[in-house]
Amino acid sequence: GAPVQADVSKLEPGQRMTVEWRGKPVWILNRSSEMIERTEAIDPSELADPDSSVPQQPAYVEGTLRSIKPEIGVLIGICTHLGCSPVFRPEPGSVDVGDWPGGFFCPCHGSRFDLAGRVFANVPAPTNLEVPPYRFDSDVLITVG
Ligand code: FES
Repeated sequence: GAPVQADVSKLEPGQRMTVEWRGKPVWILNRSSEMIERTEAIDPSELADPDSSVPQQPAYVEGTLRSIKPEIGVLIGICTHLGCSPVFRPEPGSVDVGDWPGGFFCPCHGSRFDLAGRVFANVPAPTNLEVPPYRFDSDVLITVG
């Protein structure tokens, strides 16, 4: 499939947009500084693969936030369990589980992912959400693919 370009100039902090690449939904998330702090504060023991040791992302995507720039997250919006579409629940407490720090919740079997797409421990999904190949063409233009 052809690469797809996304314009994030109107994507406010806290918002998420979706583009389609190779027939898959790709989420582009503008994480506010507060969302970044919340994500970085998650205890790694709550996550199945906090350091992304299973390669679900390109090699140039590093760190806790699994992104090129801390604020912009790019994720394939398909649950790594059986392929349902997780829902965006960015606010703390917006999912009825203990200490929900904001992220994505899969309604099919209850898998949970943080705002970097890292999967929580003890859910059916085995791996973090996939990060597609992408690059910045400018501050506000991203090419996926
Ligand atoms: Fe998402 Fe099963 S498909 S938890």
